Amino acid sequence: MTRDETPAFAVLLTPDGSRTAHSARYGEAYGSRHGAAAQARHVFVEGTGTHDHPAPRVLEVGFGLGVNFRATVADAAARGAPLHYRAYEFDPAPRAVLRAVAGEDGQGADHPVWAALLAAWPEEGGRGELEVEAAGIRATVTFADVLSADLPPGWATALYLDGFSPSRNPEVWTPDFVTRLAGTLAPGGVLGTYSAAGHVRRALTAAGLRVERHPGAPGKRECLRAIQAAGHEVRAAGDTTP
Ligand SMILES: C[S@@+](CC[C@H](N)C(=O)[O-])C[C@H]1O[C@@H](n2cnc3c(N)ncnc32)[C@H](O)[C@@H]1O
Repeated sequence: MTRDETPAFAVLLTPDGSRTAHSARYGEAYGSRHGAAAQARHVFVEGTGTHDHPAPRVLEVGFGLGVNFRATVADAAARGAPLHYRAYEFDPAPRAVLRAVAGEDGQGADHPVWAALLAAWPEEGGRGELEVEAAGIRATVTFADVLSADLPPGWATALYLDGFSPSRNPEVWTPDFVTRLAGTLAPGGVLGTYSAAGHVRRALTAAGLRVERHPGAPGKRECLRAIQAAGHEVRAAGDTTP
């Protein structure tokens, strides 16, 4: 195969039976090659306590192939918990890739909200916002650069920080952006991320969050939980009064 024929997305089977894909643009897989579904559950759904929350509101950077979304849907549906999932994505993968990665059943692919989302997914590119709702689960995907998006202040019970790695996608891990992300957490909200790099920990701490290191998903020594104080005062976006 010549360089020009390299597929933009190559679907990969991972050891837990779930799939992810390799992004030619970033030179990296969207999810863990050691178990994409295992990482989604361990780092994001359980790592943020979403699996215990009676009515989670999840904010994600970025939506990617929807592996974290489906894992969260599967958990909420099994518990009968209403869920609002709000994700940002500036480079939506083709619907066929989302479908191929998800398969037919299990891991949220059999929930009607996944079918609704696939039906509404843009054919090419993506602008504005997609919103679908089915069986108690609402999904909002904003097709925009999250760096310049208006983020809802004090909204999220959980924040999934799931950009490509800091070396490949550094702009979503900067102290400035992480501080903006912290402002979207509700009091007691939890940010989860698979990166335990020192500069990520320091950025989360500087943003006023209490950072905890936990054993990582398969293939990773550690992952992070960063918690907004329960008494944290929510401020409107742009409010800089001391
Ligand atoms: C590691 S993948 C996310 C995998 C995804 N969470 C999943 O469950 O399949 C990172 C995603 O973040 C998106 N992304 C990176 N930087 C972004 C930005 N500044 N604004 C919006 N999306 C961004 C990429 O296009 C990519 O889809």
